[in-house]
Amino acid sequence: MSLLLNNPAVLTRAREEIDACIGQPVLLLAAADLPKLHYLWCIIMETFRLYPPAPLLVPHESSTDCTVSGFHIPMGTMLLVNTFAIHRDPKLWDRPTSFIPERFEGGKSEGKMFIPFGMGRRRCPAENLGMQMVGLALGTMIQCFNWERVGEDLVDMAEGSGLTLPKEVPLEAFYEARASMVNLLSEI
Ligand code: HEM
Repeated sequence: MSLLLNNPAVLTRAREEIDACIGQPVLLLAAADLPKLHYLWCIIMETFRLYPPAPLLVPHESSTDCTVSGFHIPMGTMLLVNTFAIHRDPKLWDRPTSFIPERFEGGKSEGKMFIPFGMGRRRCPAENLGMQMVGLALGTMIQCFNWERVGEDLVDMAEGSGLTLPKEVPLEAFYEARASMVNLLSEI
């Protein structure tokens, strides 16, 4: 939501996609709609690229001696994978620090090192559930409300410290129910 407030054109496009997908009569977004919301999916992926919720994954341990990029890693070493740095590596990504959901459109970024859920045998077992939860929450907020920044300044995107990449400054934003959604929201 912070990134969308800083990039209103992306927010507008996401809302147009949702409105077109739901059609008439207006119903609340449901899990069954998510596979059709390709642009919303790209927004979530690009957000997870820039701000992976577990920026160092979880600690792993080498089960045997191995060599990584020429470095000898003895058995039993604690290994932290810096997903945050990998996702911003300029050798892998064009304009790595810019928020560009379009880079995920049409499978354009398939095969790139994109690992917000980790990889291999210890990869997050709930990736689908996580993506659905975020898709439904974000999609519904976009569908139901108008959003604006509280002032002219961009939302502060600085990262705080913590295992799950909290924001340094919590998000504050203005919102109001969209005129087309007021009746539906009053029934909920
Ligand atoms: C957007 C939401 C989520 C993200 C970004 C996420 C990300 C991750 C990451 C990065 C790991 C570590 C993978 C590794 O070290 O290679 C992990 C592990 C795990 N996640 Fe998630 N996760 C999410 C949601 C969930 C949910 C909703 C559940 C449970 C209902 C869940 C259950 C687990 C479990 C049990 C592990 C440990 C797997 C293992 O060590 O074998 N995650 N997750």
